[in-house]
Amino acid sequence: MRTDTGQVFKLEDYRPNDYLIPETNLTFRLSPQATRVIAVLTVERRGGVSASAPLVLDGDGLTLLRVEIDGRPLEPADYMATPDQLTITTVPATPRFQLVIETEVAPAGNETLMGLYRSSNVYCTQCEAEGFRRITYFLDRPDVLSVYTVRIEARRDEAPLLLSNGNPVESADLTDGWHYAVWHDPFPKPSYLFALVAGDLGKVTDSFVTMSGRKVELGIYVEPGKEMLAGYAMDALKRSMRWDEEAFGCEYDLGVFNIVAVSDFNMGAMENKGLNIFNDKYVLADQETATDADFANIEAIIAHEYFHNWTGNRITCRDWFQLCLKEGLTVFRDHEFSADQRSRAVKRIAEVRTLRAHQFPEDQGPLAHPVRPRRYREINNFYTATVYEKGSEVVRMIRTILGDETFRAGMNLYFERHDGQAATIEDFIKVFEDASGRDLQQFALWYHQAGTPNLTVSSTHNPGSREFTLEIEQSVPPTPSESRKRLMHIPLAFGLVGADGEPVAYSSVEGATVENGVIHIRKRRHVVRFSGVAERPAVSLNRGFSAPVTLSVEQKADDQFFLAGHDSDAFSRWQAFNTILTDALIAAFRQILGGKPSVFASRLTDLAGKIAGDETLEPAYRALALALPSEADIARDIGKNIDPDAVFRSREALALAIATANKKLFSDLYDHLVDDDAFSPDAASAGRRALRNILLDYLSLLPAGRELAADHFHSATNMTDRAAALTVLAHRHHGSPEAIKALADFEAVYADDPLVMDKWLQIQASVPGPQTVDTVRALTRHSAFSMANPNRVRSLIGTFSSANQTGFHRADGDGYRFFTETVLEVEKRNPQVAARLATALRSWRSLEPGRQAKAREALLAIANAENLSADLRDIVERTLV
Ligand code: ARG
Ligand code: ZN
Repeated sequence: MRTDTGQVFKLEDYRPNDYLIPETNLTFRLSPQATRVIAVLTVERRGGVSASAPLVLDGDGLTLLRVEIDGRPLEPADYMATPDQLTITTVPATPRFQLVIETEVAPAGNETLMGLYRSSNVYCTQCEAEGFRRITYFLDRPDVLSVYTVRIEARRDEAPLLLSNGNPVESADLTDGWHYAVWHDPFPKPSYLFALVAGDLGKVTDSFVTMSGRKVELGIYVEPGKEMLAGYAMDALKRSMRWDEEAFGCEYDLGVFNIVAVSDFNMGAMENKGLNIFNDKYVLADQETATDADFANIEAIIAHEYFHNWTGNRITCRDWFQLCLKEGLTVFRDHEFSADQRSRAVKRIAEVRTLRAHQFPEDQGPLAHPVRPRRYREINNFYTATVYEKGSEVVRMIRTILGDETFRAGMNLYFERHDGQAATIEDFIKVFEDASGRDLQQFALWYHQAGTPNLTVSSTHNPGSREFTLEIEQSVPPTPSESRKRLMHIPLAFGLVGADGEPVAYSSVEGATVENGVIHIRKRRHVVRFSGVAERPAVSLNRGFSAPVTLSVEQKADDQFFLAGHDSDAFSRWQAFNTILTDALIAAFRQILGGKPSVFASRLTDLAGKIAGDETLEPAYRALALALPSEADIARDIGKNIDPDAVFRSREALALAIATANKKLFSDLYDHLVDDDAFSPDAASAGRRALRNILLDYLSLLPAGRELAADHFHSATNMTDRAAALTVLAHRHHGSPEAIKALADFEAVYADDPLVMDKWLQIQASVPGPQTVDTVRALTRHSAFSMANPNRVRSLIGTFSSANQTGFHRADGDGYRFFTETVLEVEKRNPQVAARLATALRSWRSLEPGRQAKAREALLAIANAENLSADLRDIVERTLV
């Protein structure tokens, strides 16, 4: 484990290295405890660099066995080696030389899951961001691009399959039961994209013919016996390859494309050139074991990693400050893909819910950072919702501002101009300026300035002068180390909606640039006057969520109800109803704190019924509308002095009011939605299941709801319905005989399927109430759990600490005590996963004072532990500041 050195990396300190490594030849002789790695590197001094400049290579915990230059061992005086660095002080005067480095590593003992490690007896690698330096000494930075040839040797019985990046060159047997394979990747790449896999795996094959008629062999490798679970992933891969050709003109460039699923993985997946490595959770699926949400995630992540082949691999990042260059853009691309494969409106609503749930709290708390950060202590802590999700929103805004065609022209220019390069955000913005002739410098603040902007909007209508006025004021709240903010360029899509639901015409507008339904906010305050408006319209703001901002709108409740029923923009229509729900929940929260019963307007509960039964709307849309804002959403909108128990009670009260008011309608609809057709994971079928399952959730609150949920559970023919019913039983009828039986039945059936048991852990970890911390403690000793496996840790501990408001934030602080112990225990093996877990307390300052004090104690207890890793120290210290 790398302990913290306190070093801070700064964007302004970037300079290219003195040396380059145009060619890299690696030989691996694999063995679990002692793998030999021989690196033969062609090193080149850059022009103008003095011959006396030392060559300083990165390492991380390495054991050096041999170092030679141009065939001669180095004299001890000519180099210095520590586990974390190899400095060659005497470098040949020739501009090019050959450097040979031999190291030994122990994959079996590597629990950090960075570098070369073993997962269920399979050798695999994870090199992004800085894992390659755990394999050999190297210039382990993304602006050093090298052509790799890799030879893997292993015992054939242990590892019949040998994979690396690029195309296969040759393979044959060696003596003593060993064999080898050689792979060559012709595309120069940074070390973070290197990958190796060796083991005994099952294979699913297919092929794809690219737009120019080249045939690509596709392979998905999984644990033997699980081949039949890879079909959906393969289908998603082929759809992704076709879509990228059609939407962006991006064609695949190697003869093979392989995906390997492993069961121990720190993140979702990794885009290594020609050899993507996946968390098996995002590959394996069938109706018995995967929910519709799992299918959708698989489709999105397969696409995401595949799309990186152009946005990330062919064009990579100059340095890690530019991470959003590949991640924000690739998320945008996978969002568009899913929108095209499924329902665009539903996808957009789901994206915005995710952004608000994960990115807004980050941007509004102590861990806030710009989409392109300027400093970091540990880069692994910057694989964040801000870099990924807000990064994607920024690309979307560029498209909104430029329009589809010009945006596409800019992307074409990007591919043309920067193919084969390690680029920056400035390069990215420049292609759109050049393609459009527009100045995007103010817009670029979206990359440079942290914090969620707020727009305050009010409107007036003057029937006499037929003028409608919008007053819009922007502000960006201060964030850590950025107290003063500059004014942003915010593209605000809007609509003026007349009483008949149709757009209201206006003759002219002044006070801001308004184009294609978008108001361009650039100043602190705009007074936007629309003339020729006879009747007062309802304003629909931030249509399609055109900008990732918060809105403070003075709007009549009547207008909100009107828009929730009539807005022609599906997103805004959903938003209007969601705002109504949020306002009602906040009011209920205050009533509960004041000791008063919560009452809800009948027009709200009626509208819920109307949406549920509106056959003109897609079922998936209706399901999303009926899903109440989560407890965390409500807490975020309240902002401060949060009592999670009162938030929970307000949400339960509203759910009960909606269920009670719509009992008959919900129950008829529930019966009517039974699906007798054969299972299909497609979006329309999934939407019907989603609607039926949310109706079950409401109905479970009414008399006989428990029996209904138990029936639903026992008659389920797929995991979506089964998991939904189990959640309802475990959460709403905690401790009931039905809940206990369902949990036991589920466990009995799926005990040997770790990915399904993750759901069982998650469902129990998210049961509301103070008793859950004890359940979770007990489950850490269950055979389905393991502290060493990130999926298990995230399912049990991650779910408890970031998705169980009443359980985790238990008033006596026991949830936090458990959290401190567990984070420190996970850290001993895997600092990256521990650091991610620790972000669960990032919003501690918005809690009521009692819980706040206890949360702070828990954070201090972590901060004061000895030998903290760089990963965990960075998160905890920033959270406490
Ligand atoms: N580039 C990967 C993806 O977004 C994520 C890998 C991050 N890994 C890490 N150890 N930080 O697809
Ligand atoms: Zn990515």
